[in-house]
Amino acid sequence: MISTNRSIFCGSDLNWTQSEPFPTNWVEKNNRFLGIIANVASNFRSHSTSVESQVKENSFENIFIQGGFNVKPLVIETIEENQDLLRTDDRKGKGYKVEINDGSNVNIDESSSEGLSGSRILKSTHEREVSEVEKEAWKLLREAVVNYCGNPVGTVAAIDPADKQPLNYDQVFIRDFVPSALAFLLKGERDIVKNFLLHTLQLQSWEKTVDCYSPGQGLMPASFKVRNVPLDGRDGESEDVLDPDFGESAIGRVAPVDSGLWWIILVRAYGKITGDYSLQERVDVQTGMRLILNLCLSDGFDMFPTLLVTDGSCMIDRRMGIHGHPLEIQALFYSALRCSREMLTVDDSTKNLVAAINNRLSALSFHIREYYWVDMKKINEIYRYKTEEYATDAINKFNIYPDQIPHWLVDWIPETGGYFIGNLQPAHMDFRFFTLGNLWTIISSLGTNKQNEGILNLIDDKWSDLVAQMPLKICFPALEHEEWRIVTGGDPKNTPWSYHNGGSWPTLIWQFTLACIKMGRPELARKAVALAENKLSVDQWPEYYDTRYGRFIGKQARLHQTWTIAGYLTSKMLLDHPELASTLFWNEDYELLENCVCGLGKSGRRKCSRLVARSQIAA
Ligand code: GLC
Repeated sequence: MISTNRSIFCGSDLNWTQSEPFPTNWVEKNNRFLGIIANVASNFRSHSTSVESQVKENSFENIFIQGGFNVKPLVIETIEENQDLLRTDDRKGKGYKVEINDGSNVNIDESSSEGLSGSRILKSTHEREVSEVEKEAWKLLREAVVNYCGNPVGTVAAIDPADKQPLNYDQVFIRDFVPSALAFLLKGERDIVKNFLLHTLQLQSWEKTVDCYSPGQGLMPASFKVRNVPLDGRDGESEDVLDPDFGESAIGRVAPVDSGLWWIILVRAYGKITGDYSLQERVDVQTGMRLILNLCLSDGFDMFPTLLVTDGSCMIDRRMGIHGHPLEIQALFYSALRCSREMLTVDDSTKNLVAAINNRLSALSFHIREYYWVDMKKINEIYRYKTEEYATDAINKFNIYPDQIPHWLVDWIPETGGYFIGNLQPAHMDFRFFTLGNLWTIISSLGTNKQNEGILNLIDDKWSDLVAQMPLKICFPALEHEEWRIVTGGDPKNTPWSYHNGGSWPTLIWQFTLACIKMGRPELARKAVALAENKLSVDQWPEYYDTRYGRFIGKQARLHQTWTIAGYLTSKMLLDHPELASTLFWNEDYELLENCVCGLGKSGRRKCSRLVARSQIAA
């Protein structure tokens, strides 16, 4: 039973770290038995069967709202056997202080660093000597750790010593924590990640409203803060509370669509790196995953398998003209679906959801491969497009006017290689190169092998534009002049070649490293890491760099930005241990390629558009 008392969350931490019901080596040997337990547990929630019905139906969960804040916890009352979930303990109400951890007590439990498959986890960072820069980075990363009721639950976005106005940079961002989590996991320190995943799961169920309207229940916050508040009527006593931001305080009030996707990706990474699959098998984790998936897979007015979102719903979290179907969200969506497909316990209650995931994966990869990909050949095709075609077998399906091909692209597109464009809408292709989306199409195999190779070839070829003096450009090129004014609304933070508008973000290096290792080109990543390594420590680990070639520290960049630090450390460890990197990416799944459920046969009046498509490449 999960109690409604918020302070009880504090007490739960102890149970989480001790909640593995079986000795670790026992678990590995007895996977079958655990499977049975998981099935017993999932039978318990089997009332909710179909994808559609789960959105509204909560027959296995009694949800009730607790008063107090604008953002309130919805408490899920779940009766479970064999799963030691959240319990009260005698520390309740005693008042624990928020601390910025000095790192000395993070994950000190030696046994946990063994992991369930100890050999896969690094005992020390690596065999080579750890450089001074890495030592400094580890020290700063540990200083960024946030404690909740005495246990580490995440890392703050930045601790800039000179920052008088931290805004929300003193919060734990879901997306920012991912590289921190990987650095800790690769070092064999798992507790902070487990705590983070379970605490954010609690936040997911909070009821949240903006002007009396509530977004879907599965929404994960963009960030959260640990506050220490005085206890009513108890002099001098206080307690820690978690205060999430679902977008209701965020600049622009954007819903963080990527948070839930990152959360799912991290749950999988936790299992893969530690070998502890009991976390993903937990009923509450399975339920959390399903809530996120229900939100993403629910029916709407969409004509495409891509997710329709507002501007600023991901890493680029303010207006940059990426509303619609931005590549970053699609690539993370695809990755999260692939993770879920591996992790969902399959039984009667989830079989429809699993089928929906498979169908979406298949349709999404077709759509992105076919319509988002551009290279020399495709641009030339678009250049000669006819418009106003009315037919199901139109060549120019989205009615793209050739004039939309921007001037910069005509000379920029290389003879070999290519990339996925930033967005696709009716009569609109956003030809900008967005790095995060392209890297995740490689990592998740959303792109074909040939396309993925093509992206790395393009980055290599356009090194001076995309990597330049500091890896890597968040997007290329910048919006300038009138276009900047219209598209960003004249945003003074997103001026040309600054911040989201063509700025350089060192945190992207870890994802670049992962993509390079996957494609067998680690030397490219090494080159980028070496470039960053020379400057990051001297420049005090800035959030981003400005100017066309990334030469200046960003105008409003925070220093000691945690995901810059963690991204660097994660890249170093991935390069040292490519075998661990390989647990974090996916290869082509041929089963998905064969899957088409549109019901339109090869013969007959209407043809399946996938069968008539000309350029779908399986290789
Ligand atoms: C900025 C970035 C966002 C990041 C946040 C915290 O808002 O755009 O991606 O999560 O800072 O670092």
